[in-house]
Amino acid sequence: MKEQFSKIGYILAMAGSAVGLGNAWKFPTMVGTNGGSAFIILYLAFTLFVAFVVFLAELSIGKITKKDAVGAFMHLAPKHKKAWGMAGFFMVGAILIVCFYSVVIGWILKYIYLSFFTLPKSIDEAGEVFTNLITLDLSSQIICFSIVFLLIFWVVSLGVKSGIERLNVFMMPSLFILLMLMLFYSFSVDGFSKAFLFLFEPDFSAISYASVLDALGLSFFSLSMGVCVVLTYSASMDDSTNIIKSTLSIIFINVLIGLMMGLVVFTFIFEFGANPKESGAGLVFVSLASLFGNMGVVGNVLCVLFFIALFFAGVTSAVSMIEPFAFYLINKFGLSRMGALVRIGAFVYVVGVLCILGNHKDYSSYLTFFNQSLFDNLDHLTSNILMPVSAFVICIFVGFVVKKDTIKSFFVPYMGEFGFKIWLFFIRFVCPLAIVDITLGGKVSGLVLKAFGV
Ligand code: PFF
Repeated sequence: MKEQFSKIGYILAMAGSAVGLGNAWKFPTMVGTNGGSAFIILYLAFTLFVAFVVFLAELSIGKITKKDAVGAFMHLAPKHKKAWGMAGFFMVGAILIVCFYSVVIGWILKYIYLSFFTLPKSIDEAGEVFTNLITLDLSSQIICFSIVFLLIFWVVSLGVKSGIERLNVFMMPSLFILLMLMLFYSFSVDGFSKAFLFLFEPDFSAISYASVLDALGLSFFSLSMGVCVVLTYSASMDDSTNIIKSTLSIIFINVLIGLMMGLVVFTFIFEFGANPKESGAGLVFVSLASLFGNMGVVGNVLCVLFFIALFFAGVTSAVSMIEPFAFYLINKFGLSRMGALVRIGAFVYVVGVLCILGNHKDYSSYLTFFNQSLFDNLDHLTSNILMPVSAFVICIFVGFVVKKDTIKSFFVPYMGEFGFKIWLFFIRFVCPLAIVDITLGGKVSGLVLKAFGV
């Protein structure tokens, strides 16, 4: 019998998976480079009309079958079971993510340590600290990555309830309190009103097709979708949990914390006149670190709080990435939890270290593919390719392959007949078309518009 989350444990664990570095690192960066709130509106629209709908579909596969990802697809497929079972292997995406994601949590750990000392005072100096860390300092990165690695594998080894649930019940409220503290501090600073306008006054001229793809990718990444985390956590959901209410709560917490992080990050950016368009990890590790460096001891305290909050957010997400594959190995090969984790751990550790080496100046040339570091390749492959493709496969599977009666009897008690009809229309047509169109850079809608002479 699979261990089950408590009702609140499920919501916190799923929200813990959703709220992560994506909210602090990808979200503000993408908002910054795509015209502020116009991008947020796009992201919210995708979250509500695409991600929410597909999230429910992925959840239903796990909750109906209570099986691991491969077993769940096989169980629900009326024919070609083996072929459909392959869809469960999208869970490998989560393992690929955890490899580079834990490297970033390692950087965060290093910054928590650095915040106890003198912080860099200018953007240039902070840039140098960060660049030195990732291009020169192998030992710090490997030590920090190893600590993070041991922590997350230890939590998963304790199991769903005593490990994952307990971690989230502690870390998620702590993260919220830390963020509230920082937000209260931000209110008192002049940069707050500029950040507020930047986040809530739309500039649609900055939106391009690339922004649309980014917004869709972010809505999936941010809700941990398409890599069987939703499916696997939902297989451990308590039977009395209301799927609609819990999913809406998870989305609400995720968006709320994203916006809170955004407000905090941009308040400091504007307060010190830094560039909101500064891209990549630089926004958090460079801009923010230098801003804290200009605030004396208060800056050090804020810096510790901010990076601890980020650390909590990252760890609860990383833990969720390992569970789907671990659960599969345990079910399929009868391995013990430890046996499964040792195998997954060996892979994650090696690839994680390769990601670190790939950013290092002496080794990067051996680990660069398609003009990108191994780290960036894994990020691109998972967020922009695997997640949308798997979301598309889930739409087709639940919308057309699984017996309609099975899906209908699962959803109708929660959304009624009419709600189900609308949801089914979205999962069959709106979501797959939107995903294909956006992933192909708007080619389909371009042709349709052309056909209509627009
Ligand atoms: N949702 C996490 C974040 O926003 O940082 C990232 C993530 C977690 C992606 C779990 C995929 C996953 F399976």
